Amino acid sequence: MRVLVIGSGGREHALAWGLTRSNDVEVVCAPGNPGTADLATNIAVDIRDRSAVVDLARGIDADLVVVGPEEPLVLGVADALRDKGILAFGPGADGAALEGSKAWMKEVLEDAGVATARHGTFDATSEAGALAFLGTLPGLYVVKTDGLAGGKGVVVTESIAEARDAVRGYLSGERFGDAGRTVVIEEGLSGPELSILAVCDGHDAVALAPAQDFKRIGDGDTGPNTGGMGAYSPVPLATPAVVHDVMRDGVERTLAVLRRRGIDYRGVLYAGMMLTVDGPKMLEYNVRFGDPECQVIVPRFASDLATLLTEAASGALKTDVRWRDDACVTVVIAADGYPASPRTGDEIIGVEAAAARPETIVFHAGTSRSLDGRLISAGGRVLDVTATGPTIAEARARAYDAVSMISCAGMQFRRDVASAW
Ligand code: AMP
Ligand code: GLY
Repeated sequence: MRVLVIGSGGREHALAWGLTRSNDVEVVCAPGNPGTADLATNIAVDIRDRSAVVDLARGIDADLVVVGPEEPLVLGVADALRDKGILAFGPGADGAALEGSKAWMKEVLEDAGVATARHGTFDATSEAGALAFLGTLPGLYVVKTDGLAGGKGVVVTESIAEARDAVRGYLSGERFGDAGRTVVIEEGLSGPELSILAVCDGHDAVALAPAQDFKRIGDGDTGPNTGGMGAYSPVPLATPAVVHDVMRDGVERTLAVLRRRGIDYRGVLYAGMMLTVDGPKMLEYNVRFGDPECQVIVPRFASDLATLLTEAASGALKTDVRWRDDACVTVVIAADGYPASPRTGDEIIGVEAAAARPETIVFHAGTSRSLDGRLISAGGRVLDVTATGPTIAEARARAYDAVSMISCAGMQFRRDVASAW
């Protein structure tokens, strides 16, 4: 079969890698990156353009289209494909609003009776109410843009002054344009974070292996939030009982509410949880594979990925999902200046040697080729250096060995990914 993977990051490289391990699967990536070019055909496309994606899928006679990033999902790319009878993995715009509108997501959580942080939703006409609501919170303030803000729209702060500034900056449109003109304000929770990704077929859901990512740029969880600086799987904290509870009390209730509202959710539902002293609480839903969580989940997958995604897209999950016992760790190499203003165009040396190490895969995230064929940085997160091993510690040691072979001017990476094990 021929599978079209939409996107160009490390997540899409990992998906393409996993799909090519299925029998008789040929992968086309659009637009892909220099890493996917080694195992698939890359074709340029504007992934926000629904008809361009449909034309491409038709043109290459794709049997399945896997939409990686949230933006095309929120824009209805999966709907456009399904409208033309093309099998698509990824929710339609209606379901993708779980990520596209945090206010709507909170409403769905309430309807489903899923535990979440105490919160309020405010727009520019209710700034005074927003500021007053902040005053009722116990001391850790969280302010979020309603709309997509590339992972940068969340402020978590102990300073009410900073929280107030965020509210004003968001509601005025100054900081994130229309995405911030509605805000969700919530009480800050504390506890370890856990991502549970479930593959859904509209009715049923199957949990993937748990993964944990490292959101802050600096060691010891310091500095600004990023898209994720590393991840590992399995997560000792995520016992089968925890996963079972998150599926039953979170994901399945949410799917039931979506169904009741006429939403046929086929794709990944990514539950971002915090394990608080009062039990697990849902911080967010994403409507796609996590990045870089996907990069540690796919290498551990022991069933057939193309079959699983095809079944979900067809509304008929039945594959028995199995996992390798090996652990997997990924360390993100980010560009100088990331996350505020990443510098691009720096030459990257050593990727081939690193990837030749045992049990090591280097997924490309933000790379491109210069005119003379050199590998150069082309985004904030540049590479996901990934390794497996019998234990988290061994996988981690291999991943860091491989990182030490790679150089790129100004590169940043965390030294404490998965270091607790
Ligand atoms: P979100 O995009 O909603 O997941 O927020 C991004 C990150 O902000 C989360 O992964 C948490 O680290 C943090 N965060 C979000 N909501 C809260 C909350 N209510 N309390 C504490 N931290 C939060
Ligand atoms: N790593 C967090 C995310 O994909 O949203």
